[in-house]
Amino acid sequence: MKKNQGILISFEGGEGVGKTVQIKQLADVLKTKGYDVVITREPGGTVISEQIREVILSTKNIGMAFTTEVLLFQAARAQIYRELILPSLKAGKVVLCDRTRDSSVVYQGIVRGFGKKLIEQLNDISTKNTYPNLTILLDVPVEIGLSRRHNCEKVNRLDLEQKDFHEKVRKGYLKLAEKNDHKRWLVIDGSKSIEEVHEEILEKIKANKIFQ
Ligand code: TYD
Repeated sequence: MKKNQGILISFEGGEGVGKTVQIKQLADVLKTKGYDVVITREPGGTVISEQIREVILSTKNIGMAFTTEVLLFQAARAQIYRELILPSLKAGKVVLCDRTRDSSVVYQGIVRGFGKKLIEQLNDISTKNTYPNLTILLDVPVEIGLSRRHNCEKVNRLDLEQKDFHEKVRKGYLKLAEKNDHKRWLVIDGSKSIEEVHEEILEKIKANKIFQ
């Protein structure tokens, strides 16, 4: 890792794939190795972005137009990059982000139908042309993801979508990972145990040599 140049690792996947717990475990390992680690999430991560998150995800807002949704995700993103992610990278930190630009490519670009090209243009504006150094896709069959989600977490507006929506999300991610633009995608079978998934993430990161 070069001085004054941090590393951005994003975690992506559908609902209930277990990103949060894996981010925490990876952060613990990196911290014991002496890295300065920032954990954050999209939409959210700053006071302003968390307020935008409330509006986007509230089940009260089922009438939200898709275009509004696209732009609100980007608004939250523009804020977190300016306020937290870019300054942290500049300070040489490791940023672990629960979702970022690829969520918009899949959910809004592919599934809602706005197209990858338009969404990537917006992503470039919001992130000031920043891509993760590594993107870890936790892939889990939709039934497993949804049942995990419904068992233990607060349901948000997008969770209310039908199974078909979530199937498209899964396929969309696998397609992006297969194309592997910027050579930054790692695909992990997220249906294994938390410990097995954690070990696989560590192994793949090691093989990827991102921290050398
Ligand atoms: P969240 O509760 O954080 O879901 P998860 O635990 O699965 O990450 O809710 C975020 C939701 O917003 C999730 O359904 C994915 C969606 N989303 C988009 O549609 N576009 C985006 O750009 C982002 C960042 C998230």
